[in-house]
Amino acid sequence: MSARHVPAVLRERREQDIARLATLLEVIQPIEGYPKSRPESLEAFVRDRRVIGAWVIEEDGVVMGHALIKQRSLGGIDDIVHEHTTWPKDRLAEISRLFVATEARGKGYARTLLRHCASEARRLNYLPYLDVDMATPAPRALYASEGWQSLAITTLSFPSGISLEVDVMVPPGT
Ligand SMILES: CC(C)(COP(=O)(O)OP(=O)(O)OC[C@H]1O[C@@H](n2cnc3c(N)ncnc32)[C@H](O)[C@@H]1OP(=O)(O)O)[C@@H](O)C(=O)NCCC(=O)NCCS
Repeated sequence: MSARHVPAVLRERREQDIARLATLLEVIQPIEGYPKSRPESLEAFVRDRRVIGAWVIEEDGVVMGHALIKQRSLGGIDDIVHEHTTWPKDRLAEISRLFVATEARGKGYARTLLRHCASEARRLNYLPYLDVDMATPAPRALYASEGWQSLAITTLSFPSGISLEVDVMVPPGT
């Protein structure tokens, strides 16, 4: 029997997607530490109050991946990007909340989401940027393979007491 072709669709996130996305993070967070420490509400974490735009990848009508662009990150990351690029802080868009269901990995969904977020940010006249936990090889390999460049490595400290060493990155040609 031949494998059934499952079409993947990228579309804007809807409010009805939030519960499913939080369910995906329920699985991902304890295994892969994304996010590093479990927030009080995974739904609030994925919804994000500072969102500019958010997208999902669907496989056969089932949401399998997500990413968004947002304004203002924690811990002065946008200051670092501003200092290195001279882009005004209110024209910076962080690519964030990028994750793919464990059962849908390795199909290029994260790459598609990353590229879409970057091009949407550019279209809206923002400079896209991101930060990545130095301890997570999969996303770091993705960003490197897309030619993203490191601006600085810095330490983020959270109110929970957890701290995180992150690489602050911008797209090629910035
Ligand atoms: C990182 C993540 C989003 C990748 O999702 P994905 O859809 O499987 O990734 P893709 O199929 O688009 O892979 C694109 C590239 O990323 C890199 N990559 C992805 N998974 C990898 C892994 N486990 N190990 C090494 N490199 C990996 C590879 O360069 C890959 O290209 P290739 O397939 O040509 O080798 C997924 O592993 C995930 O959800 N992780 C937990 C959440 C997280 O860490 N998010 C990032 C926050 S900064």
